[in-house]
Amino acid sequence: MKSSIFHCNVIELNKINNRAGNMSFVENAKNIPFDIKRVYYIYDVPGGSDRGGHAHKNLEQYVIAVSGAFDVLLDDGTNKKIVRLDRPYMALHIQKGIWRETRNFTSGSVCMVMASEEYNIEDYIDDYAQFIHFKQR
Ligand code: TYD
Repeated sequence: MKSSIFHCNVIELNKINNRAGNMSFVENAKNIPFDIKRVYYIYDVPGGSDRGGHAHKNLEQYVIAVSGAFDVLLDDGTNKKIVRLDRPYMALHIQKGIWRETRNFTSGSVCMVMASEEYNIEDYIDDYAQFIHFKQR
C-alpha cells in the first residue's frame, strides 16, 4: 500500500492534570504502533522560520510540539495538507514515504520527534523531484 497523507493522523495523548503542571506520556505498543528507536528534538528555532523538507523511505515518526507551535506540511505526491501542532498532548503520525516541511515556528517552540528507526542518512530523500520519482515506482 502506498502511504498517504490520509493515514497521517493526530492522536491525543493521555493527560494527567495537576495544579503544579500537566503531564503526558507515550508508551511503546500502547499508544503508538511502532517501537521507538530514537527521540530527538529541535529547539532554538528563530520565530517565524521554516525548516527544509524531506521524506523517509522506511522511517515513520510521531511529532509533538512539546512547547510552542509550528505547522507541518504533509505531501504524499498526490495530496497535501497542513497540520498545526500547538498542544503538548497532540502527536502527529508521519508515515513512511511522506514529504514533510516544518514551518512557522513560534519563538521558543520545541519540536520533539519519536522515530521508528535509528539515524540513517540513506533513508532520507532530500530532493522533491526524487521523492516524486520514488512515489511513482
Ligand atoms: P533533519 O532530519 O534533516 O531535520 P530538518 O529536516 O528538520 O532540518 O536533520 C538535520 C540534520 O541533522 C541533518 O544534517 C542530519 C542531522 N541529524 C543527525 O545527525 N542525527 C539525527 O538523529 C537527526 C534527526 C538528524
